[in-house]
Amino acid sequence: MAQLPKTIGILTSGGDCAGLNAAIRAVVSRAVQGYGWRVLGIRHGTMGLLRRPLEFETLDLRIATGNILRLGGTILGTTNRGDPFAFPMPDGSLRDRSAEVIAGLRELGIDTLIGIGGDGSFAILRRLAQQGGIKLVGIPKTIDNDVGATENSIGYHTAVMVAAEALDRLQPTAASHDRVMVLEVMGRDAGHIALAAGIAGGADVILIPEIPYGLEQVAAHIEKVRLQGRNFALVVVAEAVKDRGGQPVQQQHSGGGVTYGGIGHRLGDALARLTGAETRVTVLGHVQRGGQPTWSDRMIASAFGVHAVDLIAAGKSDCMVAWQNRGVVDVPLGEAVAAPQQVDPDSALVRTARGLGICLGDD
Ligand code: F6P
Repeated sequence: MAQLPKTIGILTSGGDCAGLNAAIRAVVSRAVQGYGWRVLGIRHGTMGLLRRPLEFETLDLRIATGNILRLGGTILGTTNRGDPFAFPMPDGSLRDRSAEVIAGLRELGIDTLIGIGGDGSFAILRRLAQQGGIKLVGIPKTIDNDVGATENSIGYHTAVMVAAEALDRLQPTAASHDRVMVLEVMGRDAGHIALAAGIAGGADVILIPEIPYGLEQVAAHIEKVRLQGRNFALVVVAEAVKDRGGQPVQQQHSGGGVTYGGIGHRLGDALARLTGAETRVTVLGHVQRGGQPTWSDRMIASAFGVHAVDLIAAGKSDCMVAWQNRGVVDVPLGEAVAAPQQVDPDSALVRTARGLGICLGDD
């Protein structure tokens, strides 16, 4: 009897971002053309493995055209809720449903999984893989760029481009109205987007969670800019920055989830009071996650997808593809999830910001 081709599974997990489809396309291209394998795309992260019938689709070379390379979002769908080890049940309790996920993978004949996710998703997938004896290769994605051991995660460049473009658009209107413009950007626990976009977009102030700030220092800097003869200022604040009372500003959603968001308005009010300047606030939100991926996100995603498949072919597991020194390498998954990669306050980019005279809130 003819042997069935090897079957690998792929899923996207956690918040979406631009470039996920480019990675899916690369995995399918390499696995099907390079090795003759079958690729099953699981829908909505591990949710597709919890539902019965199982939610999946066979991904063949029809998706390996250039079309999905350009598309934002993920054709597979994703979720950042529903940890199978602590799954929220309708009665409010949490149930361990990991065995159902593993049974789903077995039913599909998947013994090797490519998970495209961030550190939270990797921690869950790793546990599932260990429990179920599944081989796992991770591809890092998150606009926050806080996955360890990789210089870049898919989606980061696109998010920074969107945030920098927002500053390009805010600057002329700020100058026309003599205003202080506050731009709140995403970054759950890390200030990478704020720092990079703020430098690229000509910000006067950049506030990130890694560097505690003082409102008085920020107000004094805006005053200094005014005294130097400039009639506007641009302030970028990462959503996870704490308010004056030391609390993160969060939103409770009707579905039960809690997300960051709101520090921009608190800051805008406080700066208006302290400086007397007219202040307006823009919260960029999910605009940073959607839209067409930049060339670099497409390129990195493509390199990640091909390398992930080659790693499987080489018999590797429990590893993650990573971008280091201008190329793609692989690192142990444990290393990648050990600690989130936050902004190093002594890094070259922080020094660049200070060298440009940008206020980081601490001086
Ligand atoms: O982790 C990615 C991210 O976009 C964060 O920057 C943000 O805090 C969070 O996800 C938003 O999550 P949600 O899509 O649930 O609102």
